[in-house]
Amino acid sequence: MDIKNAIVTELNNMNLSVNIDNIKNLFVLSADSKNGDVSLPCFALAKELKQNPMVISNSLVSEINSKLTNTSLIEKAEAVNGYVNIFTKQTVVAKNVVTEILSNPNGFGKTNLGNGKTYVLDYSSVNLAKYMHIGHLKTTIIGLVISNLLKNLGYKTVSINYVGDYGTPFGKMITAYYRWGSEEEIKARGVDAVQDLYVKFNREVENDATLEVEAREWFKKIENGDKEATRLANWFIELSRGEVERLCNLLGAEFDSWRGERYYSDKMQPVIAELKSKNLLKQSEGAQIVDLEQYGLGAALIQKSDGTSLYLTRDLAAVQDRFEMYGFNNAIYVTDVAQKLHFKQLFKIVELLNKPYAGSLEHVAYGRYSLPTGKISSRLGKQALLADIYNAALNKAKEIMNERGTKVENFEDVANKVAVGAISFEALKYERVKDTVFDLNASLNFDGETSPYMQYTYARLNSVLEKAGEFDYGAVDFSDINLEEGFEIIKQLNKYPFVIVEAFNKLEPCLIVRHLMNLCSEVNRFYNQKRIIENGKVNVNRLAVINATLCVLKNGFEIINIPVIDKM
Ligand code: ARG
Repeated sequence: MDIKNAIVTELNNMNLSVNIDNIKNLFVLSADSKNGDVSLPCFALAKELKQNPMVISNSLVSEINSKLTNTSLIEKAEAVNGYVNIFTKQTVVAKNVVTEILSNPNGFGKTNLGNGKTYVLDYSSVNLAKYMHIGHLKTTIIGLVISNLLKNLGYKTVSINYVGDYGTPFGKMITAYYRWGSEEEIKARGVDAVQDLYVKFNREVENDATLEVEAREWFKKIENGDKEATRLANWFIELSRGEVERLCNLLGAEFDSWRGERYYSDKMQPVIAELKSKNLLKQSEGAQIVDLEQYGLGAALIQKSDGTSLYLTRDLAAVQDRFEMYGFNNAIYVTDVAQKLHFKQLFKIVELLNKPYAGSLEHVAYGRYSLPTGKISSRLGKQALLADIYNAALNKAKEIMNERGTKVENFEDVANKVAVGAISFEALKYERVKDTVFDLNASLNFDGETSPYMQYTYARLNSVLEKAGEFDYGAVDFSDINLEEGFEIIKQLNKYPFVIVEAFNKLEPCLIVRHLMNLCSEVNRFYNQKRIIENGKVNVNRLAVINATLCVLKNGFEIINIPVIDKM
């Protein structure tokens, strides 16, 4: 329920001496429950009424209190330091909120804000020559979670893994293959053999510059459609993509399209022709550029002097293609903040081209990751690979579960869920833009503010619910519940749909993570203080609060990619 709105409406109907409708925007949700649930600061009114804010708040409070009736949602008003603090009737709010949740458990927090409009999301978008490593974690998880969030709000989504399946890296692979590789080995070891070759190339090229020349030649051959070069490139791409797909699926990320950069490499001509016809292209040192100097965005390189296509140009072709295919209303790109300029240039050119989708594109940037031990290098094979991170998380989860004496039938499955949750949580726990240190051990701790803690909270409450059995919650009146402790939970539960919308407005998944974490702390506190089952008798009021909390946690976990575990 919209508590603030309900209070404002009620006050408005009281016909107070101050016109509430005119000042409804001044009301805020109280930050501290000591100050009630909704507050009106009277400072802005002081000027207009030519009165001291204290005087205004005092007189408003006595006016409000004198007009309260049995059916009011307002319990009482208090004047404190120029604020009117309004306390709601906790039992009424609790009943409203819990009923709202339990009458539609899976739907709570879901809306139809999007009304079927389409978002295209470009995330993960891994460069295929490399192993998938820790640097790909945030784009994959943040993209996935934003897509979940959008679906939750009634949007259609198209998830695209715009893989980097083009460019000199594939020339390098072919070079390495001819120097050191063999068909048998690749057939036997698959993608590992391919990636080892790439790593070896990058090591050897430091002492042998001819390798670089050879790689360029192979790349040219790929571009010109040479049969052998194309066959090998395709082979390596297929193997690498299979591995990326496997890892994405392990984390729960599935894509609607894997159309990568290579698809656009021979579709540059229409882009260049259009830029030319709109007088946007300029020659500069033999290359073709769009001059964005006047927007503070430098020169955008469209075509190099040797005629090869560029990242930016391929993105121009890709966005047009996506618009034609999906008719999107919005499109977002989830990448490292280092690509900020690239996307600013892309969006500016789209705007200068007067495209219908100008203004509908957004870059969702995130900060860098580093290991506790320092910066991550990905070129020479020292990087933290995603496959290794996943395995480490899985093993650590099992180890902890063994230590804790976890007895479940589906041990492996539960451990997998703990691992996926911990990895997702690692990628989501701070604001996107922050540079963060990756710390798997910390995120697998069951006691700290971590995802195993949240999953465990859920499982523990779920077992209470199971023990208690079925109840008719329609009969719950909340009259005998000591709401002092429970009301904080009620307020957090009630806030959930608003948090979802805020997370969408800012495209900031950490807001949901934090909210659910707070909810877990509150409900644990409640559970530790209040007996749900006392002397074999179930307190249905309390159980209803627990049940509603489980519903909200479940809906929220689903969005932030923390798998629900019923029992652990
Ligand atoms: N493959 C790129 C990289 O790894 C990211 C691609 C992002 N998406 C895009 N449409 N440019 O840096």
